[in-house]
Amino acid sequence: MPDSIGCVMRSRVCKDAPAGNNAVTPAGGPKVMKNGVRQDEHPGTVGALIDWCAGELDAGGVYCGHGTASTIDESASLVYHVAGLEHDALNHNVRAAHYALPIDAKQFEQVHELLRRRIDRRIPTPYLLNEAWFAGLKFYVDERVLIPRSPFAELIVARFEPWLGHAPVRRILEIGTGSACIAIACATAFPDSTVVATDVSDAALEVAAINVARHGFNDRITLLQADVFDGVSGYFDLIVSNPPYVPEAEMESLPAEYLHEPSIALASGPDGLASARRILQDAAGHLESGGMLAVEVGAGWRDLEAALPRLPFVWPALERGGEGIALIRATDLAGAQSGKVS
Ligand SMILES: C[S@@+](CC[C@H](N)C(=O)[O-])C[C@H]1O[C@@H](n2cnc3c(N)ncnc32)[C@H](O)[C@@H]1O
Repeated sequence: MPDSIGCVMRSRVCKDAPAGNNAVTPAGGPKVMKNGVRQDEHPGTVGALIDWCAGELDAGGVYCGHGTASTIDESASLVYHVAGLEHDALNHNVRAAHYALPIDAKQFEQVHELLRRRIDRRIPTPYLLNEAWFAGLKFYVDERVLIPRSPFAELIVARFEPWLGHAPVRRILEIGTGSACIAIACATAFPDSTVVATDVSDAALEVAAINVARHGFNDRITLLQADVFDGVSGYFDLIVSNPPYVPEAEMESLPAEYLHEPSIALASGPDGLASARRILQDAAGHLESGGMLAVEVGAGWRDLEAALPRLPFVWPALERGGEGIALIRATDLAGAQSGKVS
């Protein structure tokens, strides 16, 4: 398998092409663009370029785990971005019209350059584009924050029904906000609420501030530097957290794409449950009596349940994939406090 987009392109397209930056035209031959790509290999339309690009991603052996499930989806993100198109996945007519649009040589070069960085350096596509989607909303992202992909999205959009019932949700706390995608999705889903969104990382909070401002929530979302609950005051109707939950020993075996994400957003002690335990230990002291805690632990959910048999966790079915979001009522948490959450 070729380890470089340059090799992929040259082997598939133009073995003898010069590697210089400027376009040249061999006598009587086709124009050769940057990195040895021949202009006559130009796929022509958005749809054809998406297919071509997916083939390059497949040949380059990239790992898709950052908001897209396949190389064709990643390819569409790259091409749409360069073509200045907005996704409208539900509208097939719009999509067909987009796919028929022409691609020019400059756009082809831009896509090729992005592909090179994606394949050679294993940079996840959302970091290349500084763009990620969560709960139908667009977010600025860079390597200071985890790329949004939590299955929390579908629960938030559904306003945690039926588990929250009709209890008013006025104050929400999000622990470990990263890009602020969950805080912003919550503020959108619960328009009468205010949200306190915390992170221990100042760098992450800088990115969160960009997104809070872009979504116009400066008046409803407060960003706070805090270590779990240390530095958090008050009571909340809903506490939401997607804390780090990768067991430390697993960090080294993650696909290279994940090494671009902050390790503080992923690793959480020997069994991956260190952060979740801290949250479960102290959440009762910050929840209103009718409140609820929602915390994600991914594949560690069975271990958590086995370790804390006194807590009546609810694990909602996640229709869009993912696993391991626990819902726990304040009263159940308080009842279990006589036993140590450890
Ligand atoms: C898995 S990421 C989740 C980011 C974002 N909420 C999302 O769902 O995309 C975990 C976040 O928790 C933050 N974090 C790690 N340890 C923390 C701690 N002790 N207190 C608060 N936040 C913490 C990390 O900096 C990171 O932004």
